Order: sequence, then C-alpha cells, then structure tokens
Amino acid sequence: MCGIVGQISNEKFVITDTVNALKRLEYRGYDSVGVATMEGDIYKDIGHISPFMAMLPLVATNAAICHTRWATHGKVTKENAHPHASFDGSIFLVHNGIIENHKELKKKLSISGIEFVSKTDTEVIAHYIAYEIQSGLSIVDAIRSFMGVAQGTFAVLLLHKEEQRIYAFKRDSPLVLGILDDGFIVASDIYAFSDKSPKAVFFDDDEYAIISPDSYEFFSAKGPIQKQVTEVTWTGTVEKDASFEHYMIKEIHEQPAAARRLLASLEGEQSKNMNELATIARSIDRILFVAAGTSYHASLIGVYILNSIGVEAHTLIASEFHNYMLADEHALVIAISQSGETMDVVKAVKHARSKGAKVASIVNVPHSTIQRLSDFSIEILAGQEICVASTKTYTNQVIALLRLAQLMGFETDLSTIPDDISKVIESSEAYVMELARTMKDTHDIYIIGRGISYPVSREVALKLKEISYIHAEGMMGGELKHGTIALIEEGVIVFAFIQGPDYDMLSNIEEVEVRGANVIMIADNPNFSPDFLLSLGTMSAFPIAATIIGQLFSYYIAKEKGLPIDKPRNLAKSVTVK
Ligand code: AGP
Repeated sequence: MCGIVGQISNEKFVITDTVNALKRLEYRGYDSVGVATMEGDIYKDIGHISPFMAMLPLVATNAAICHTRWATHGKVTKENAHPHASFDGSIFLVHNGIIENHKELKKKLSISGIEFVSKTDTEVIAHYIAYEIQSGLSIVDAIRSFMGVAQGTFAVLLLHKEEQRIYAFKRDSPLVLGILDDGFIVASDIYAFSDKSPKAVFFDDDEYAIISPDSYEFFSAKGPIQKQVTEVTWTGTVEKDASFEHYMIKEIHEQPAAARRLLASLEGEQSKNMNELATIARSIDRILFVAAGTSYHASLIGVYILNSIGVEAHTLIASEFHNYMLADEHALVIAISQSGETMDVVKAVKHARSKGAKVASIVNVPHSTIQRLSDFSIEILAGQEICVASTKTYTNQVIALLRLAQLMGFETDLSTIPDDISKVIESSEAYVMELARTMKDTHDIYIIGRGISYPVSREVALKLKEISYIHAEGMMGGELKHGTIALIEEGVIVFAFIQGPDYDMLSNIEEVEVRGANVIMIADNPNFSPDFLLSLGTMSAFPIAATIIGQLFSYYIAKEKGLPIDKPRNLAKSVTVK
C-alpha cells in the first residue's frame, strides 16, 4: 500500500508530470498525496490525487518524488502526508512500508535534540540519514547505515537537496526502475510508467540504486551489481470507457473477454508452463494454496475441485500460513495473488521456500514480487484491474485453477465459460438493479452456500462489505444453525447459492424463511425455481457465474447509496504491509 514515484531527467519537467504517473498507482492508497522537488519545494495535502493536482503550481524541475498514502502510522493529516523532510531541510523522502523499530530510533534521535513534526514511522528515516550525514558519513553510507539498523519493510525514494539524483532503496516493499527515452521513473510498480516504456529493472531486497538523469547504478551490501533489464508486455487496456460510470462495472463487463484471452493462452503460449505445473503437482504429496481476500476465495474453489479428483489440497489465508500449515519438501505451494505483491503472501512464500517447498504462483501483474519468487508462474491475463475490488481477476484465477485440475484429471469443458458469463450478465443485470434499489438501507446480509457454492458465499460477502458497506457474512449452509441463525429475524436478507440438486441447501432456506428471512436464491437447477436461474454450458462455470451476480449486487447497491465504488474507504488494492 502507498504508491511512490520518482522522476529524473536532463530536460526540465513540471511536477504534475510526476504526479500524473503517481495517479496510475492511486489504487495503492488514497488518504493523502504529496510531491517534493530536488530544490526542496514540498506540496502535500490530504485526499485524492485529482483535486491535489488541480491546485499544484506549474513548478519545473529535473528531479521529483511523490507519494500517495494508505495510512498506517499517524492519522490522515497534512503533517503525516509524505514527502517528509529531515530536521535540517537537506533530505526529502517518500516511503512505502513500515519501519517497525521507529520508536526506538526516534528515541535515540530525540535525545540528540531532533524534533519530529509528524506521527509517522517514516519521518525517522529522513532524520536518521541527515543525522548520519552531519556526523560525517557520505549520503550513501548514511543510507547503508539506515538499512543496517532498520527493521520492517521499506521502499524509499530520497532526494538530497540541490543534488540531481534520486537515491532508492528497498526491503520487502516493491520497487522498480523504468527506463525512459530521457531519464528514468522509479516507482512502486510498473503501471507508473507502462504508458511510457516497457523497459524495467526490478529491485531485489536490500539493494539500493543511485539514479542520475543519464545513468543508474545498483548496489547490494557487497558492492556494485549488474541488473537485468526486463521488457514488460502489457495485457488489456485501462482507458476509462465512457459507457461505464465506474471501473468496477467496466471490469465486470470485461470478464467474458478476459476469460477468453486466458483460455486461449492456457492452450497456447502458457500451455508448456501449465503442463509442467500439473506434472509437479502430480509428483508431490500435497498442494498448499496461499492467498488473501478474493484470491483466497478462488483458492477454496481450487481445493474443492482438486479434492474431488482425489488430489490432496489445502488452503489458508496467507497471514496465518506459517502458523497453521506444514510446508516442506513434499508440498507444492501455489500462491494466488492478483497484484503479486500482497505482503502476507510474500512472507508466506518466503517461509515455504525456507522449508524446502516448491513454489508456484498464479498472478495478474507480470514480474511482480510473488512471480519472481516462484519456480513456476501462471499469468491470468485479466489486464490491469483498477477498481479496488477484484472482479475479473477472480474469474481468471478460477479458470486457471480449473485448467490445472483439468490437466490432473478433472473432466470438464472450459470453452463455454466466456459465453456463460456473457449470458449471466445480460440476463441478470436489470433485475439485480431493480432489487438493489430496495436494498440500499439494508444493514446485514447473510450468504450461504455448500460445496462449490461456499467460496462463492464468502466472495460475495466480501464484495458487499468492501463496496456496499453492508455487514455481510458468507458461510457454509450447514454452519448457520450452529449460532448465526440467532440473528435471523423478520425481513433479514439471505442470499442462497445452490449448485446442482442440493436439497440440504433447500432445508437451510426453509430454516431461515420460517424465521422471517427474505431469501434470494441463485441456482442452476430449474426445479428449485430460483430468483436467478443460471443456465450454464458447464458446471465449472457455476462459481464464476454465481459470483458475478454478487458482484453486480454489490455494485448496484453501492451506486444507489452513492458510495465511492472504485476507491472504497480505508482500502487499497495492493496490500503491501503485514
Ligand atoms: C478484493 O476485492 C480485495 N480488494 C482484497 O481482498 C484482495 O483480494 C486481497 O487484498 C488480495 O490481493 P491480491 O490478490 O493482490 O494478493
């Protein structure tokens, strides 16, 4: 979370150029925004990037850094917004990550008389480095000294006043250098410069770089290092389509095309990788998925299908993976992540590797940290997803898992999925819109499913929480009677997702209806007379199609409520803190 961008060039540029590149990373956080020039001018404010840009003066410079914040330490205030300056005004920096021992470092610096103006963990970096320089170290040695004492995660861009250079260093938080025709952009991820250049150099942990307008040098703790320049290829487009009011609905509608693109690739250029992954999966004792949020829900579907063909598979939310999952050389760990940067997943993957497990990944963002940490990686080719809520990437994650299972013996025809998705959107959108109008004052929604519908219930609940701000619980139909049913009373809405002739789900529906619940049934069995009948070419499309109904509900309820759909409060798309 937090997006950082630095720009440097021989030609002077206006700082709105740099902030424009930052805008492409706004999904990483949008609590506050700020920019600093090498001359020492700092502009910052709370809120989103567009209003900030509108009031920015047209200052020109040869080096600038900027930041969009997702607050961790210190409230959302102007003082806590980045960039932060050192006590002597010589150092300006932006940071993504958390300095875990910031209190300890702050205490030491405060004893030396340094006053802190913010409540952030970041400010300590600026003061520490400036203090070390005043004590006689070169700027590079001061940075190295900081990297030696710092605990936690960081990607930092630093300007030393009047010096035409950007200093960049990182541990665990992502950082990448983009090579432009005239100068460089250094940023949290490749999307900051994907409209300008495909050439990227990825930082590894504990590396730092000195970036000048004409050249760059990379260093590890041992000295200078040579880095590989990667040519990045992009999938899909991110242009706002005037026919859609929000990215979320645009991305929901993109799902048939994204699914088609992935299926073609899994049969084409990614087929070798996919076959290798299936071969490894067959040769080990068990598959362990690791993921967070929506990606975790996709992994539950993977577990369900693989177990159905006798393949031992488990999944766990990444932040607890090291506590509850036995990863060893007999396991294949498959990390699923849209961004490929989720810190909890990165940590779990590093843990699994240290225990001898093989690691594969299913990611959307090419060259992301998780992809680079993996022995094998499948790209889901959904194209950039701008809305904080995952929609099309969930669908493609499920398709990738279905394909893996198919190669391991799961009998299915995946070719009808794109058309199934199109049909579901066409046939249900207007009715969802109508029902959503009646739900705008709803406080609680309970969502139940069994078997392959259980992950759907979890995913739809997540969408309703993050986008519609409705308290929603997604649970196993069988679990309701063990407590949660106490909350069912007259008028409470229950969504029931039913795949196949699941009469146990019908019983669960009866149990809540007799207690006054209004049930909305989404099923593929016409005999059940559901509110939404999913007529699908393949049962494999069910967890995708059913979830899309939920995506549409969360979108249209949020729209009725006038909520900030693409950038919901308190969230960020790329969660790069623990
Ligand atoms: C999805 O709608 C959420 N915004 C969130 O739960 C997300 O799925 C989670 O943070 C994991 O992200 P990743 O797939 O990029 O790892």
